[in-house]
Amino acid sequence: MSKSKKILVTGGAGFIGSHTVVELNQAGYEAVIIDNFSNSEKGVIEQIEKITGIAPKIYEGDCNDIQLMQNIFDQEGLFAGVIHFAAYKAVGESVEKPLDYYHNNLNSLLILLRTMENFKVSNLVFSSSCTVYGEPDLLPVTEESPKKQAESPYGNTKAISEEILEDTVKGKNSNLKAVALRYFNPIGAHPSSLIGELPLGVPNNLVPFITQTAAGLRERLTVFGDDYNTPDGTCIRDYIHVVDLAKAHVKAFEYLENQGNDSFFDLFNVGTGKGNSVLEAIKTFEQVNGLKLNYTIGQRRSGDVEKVFAKVDKSEKLLNWKAELSLDQALKDAWGWQKKLSNIK
Ligand code: WQD
Repeated sequence: MSKSKKILVTGGAGFIGSHTVVELNQAGYEAVIIDNFSNSEKGVIEQIEKITGIAPKIYEGDCNDIQLMQNIFDQEGLFAGVIHFAAYKAVGESVEKPLDYYHNNLNSLLILLRTMENFKVSNLVFSSSCTVYGEPDLLPVTEESPKKQAESPYGNTKAISEEILEDTVKGKNSNLKAVALRYFNPIGAHPSSLIGELPLGVPNNLVPFITQTAAGLRERLTVFGDDYNTPDGTCIRDYIHVVDLAKAHVKAFEYLENQGNDSFFDLFNVGTGKGNSVLEAIKTFEQVNGLKLNYTIGQRRSGDVEKVFAKVDKSEKLLNWKAELSLDQALKDAWGWQKKLSNIK
């Protein structure tokens, strides 16, 4: 049995990172995690082991720590590549603390790229976001759709990071091969209910707020506006099951491995290709889980785009990947995870 290829997963204890580590293990890769647990819990490692039977090696620390990054690459020997999740990701918080976001998200990427260069590791999958599209003029958005002024410093760090990668691969003697995956709205949890989303404090995102309301942790959900130019007046998003999103990372890594040795950068939309409104998400949650959600219609949230969902032909064709799980399944898995967290039978 040839030794499994080793992949460094930064932020691998987080929501999308942990689900990706599971899919990497199940595809035969060895995942090594670096995580500072600023937005994740150590217990997730044990849960990953329960799912895959493999306890991923983990380094507790920060990608901004140059010495630690050198030590990891030194100690682990040649990585087949890196999947880079580690970043701050709360849109609202980024508006309050822009410098923290620019420093953390950009500096950690620069340190990672320099370390990869020093250790001749060339394959990088980067976690980007559909937020770079802003309010699209045309829908569904393709990878060629124009990038718009980001709605937040968080979104801007993703747009700038993509430019850093694009320029780095064009540098003299660069051997970097990088793909940026532009996530749409990741939701749900692993069907085992052993891993899922762990929002710190009051959730910003819709689905964890829905599940916490259903669990009685929140009084009610406020729908941020029903006066948009959409069929039911509420915003439309492309909600993708986190397990499908995780699988896209494995496919993206295999795509990189199958390219030649020339440096290159490419980017891919990772969504379902379908748009659903906030009210549709609420109604679906109620139907698939057989419960009534307490919600009210409130004011619009500033910074929200009205409608965004993906064209995913490029990912289907080049990554040989397509989302397979439905909104129903994602909302059922999200509720299964919340019930586990809240000890609800
Ligand atoms: C979805 C819809 C809200 C909460 C953000 C980031 C994106 C990515 C995912 C990190 C919107 C509505 C929400 C609530 C509501 N983050 N909503 N009541 O804003 O599309 O995307 O999170 O990578 O980069 O921009 O996701 O879940 O916050 O909102 O009505 O209590 O749900 O107005 O229409 P969003 P979201």
